[in-house]
Amino acid sequence: MTDQDLDPATMREQYRSEIVAEESLAADPMRQFARWFQQAADAHVFEPNAMIVSTATPDGRPSSRTVLLKQFDEGGFVFFTNYGSRKGRELAENPHIALLFPWHPIARQVAVTGTASPIGRDETAAYFRSRPHGSQLGAWASEQSTVIGSRDELDRRYAELAARYPQGEQVPVPPQWGGLRVTPREVEFWQGHENRLHDRLRYTREASGWRIERLCP
Ligand SMILES: Cc1cc2nc3c(=O)[nH]c(=O)nc-3n(C[C@H](O)[C@H](O)[C@H](O)COP(=O)(O)O)c2cc1C
Repeated sequence: MTDQDLDPATMREQYRSEIVAEESLAADPMRQFARWFQQAADAHVFEPNAMIVSTATPDGRPSSRTVLLKQFDEGGFVFFTNYGSRKGRELAENPHIALLFPWHPIARQVAVTGTASPIGRDETAAYFRSRPHGSQLGAWASEQSTVIGSRDELDRRYAELAARYPQGEQVPVPPQWGGLRVTPREVEFWQGHENRLHDRLRYTREASGWRIERLCP
């Protein structure tokens, strides 16, 4: 035993919410996602665009981390990262990816599987320029997922960049940094209910359009 008194086995919430009827769903999962994303924001879920991204090496060793969704449309979900990071390197060798939006305060989650590919450099540049100056410098300062000797070293790199590109000066887009678009193959919408009789509605891509099926909770 550890010295903590908090026992997760005793934690049990009863979820109370409307049943998700098949007839209420959009025919396309990205449209359904847009509705739920709006509802999560309306319910003041903290950072509803925070999603867990799972990748794997070609021999199937998985890893997960949180990233922020920055764009979505009928083509899929886009996030930005360093292509040389662990996730970036794994995706370059194995494009299979899973996303999870954990909207606990409204007892919902959206789980996506699909494949990821880099977006165009023009699209990346457009988004990079919309970021605050400090975040632009940060993308240069950090060789994401590599070992660094100390916090001081990171701060020093940042200070050097801030001197080279003062506020107001255009920061070039780091070549290793950019967007990844996740093209979904399956999207599952999960809504928690009482007695663990949750709704699970899964969209699966077909030759044209999407198949929608209900799964047991
Ligand atoms: C709330 C939150 C948002 C994050 N957003 C991003 C993001 O948009 N892009 C990113 O590269 N890392 C983001 N991170 C950091 C990642 O979780 C991770 O530490 C980093 O991308 C390196 O991951 P990797 O070594 O597995 O590639 C975020 C972390 C948190 C907690």
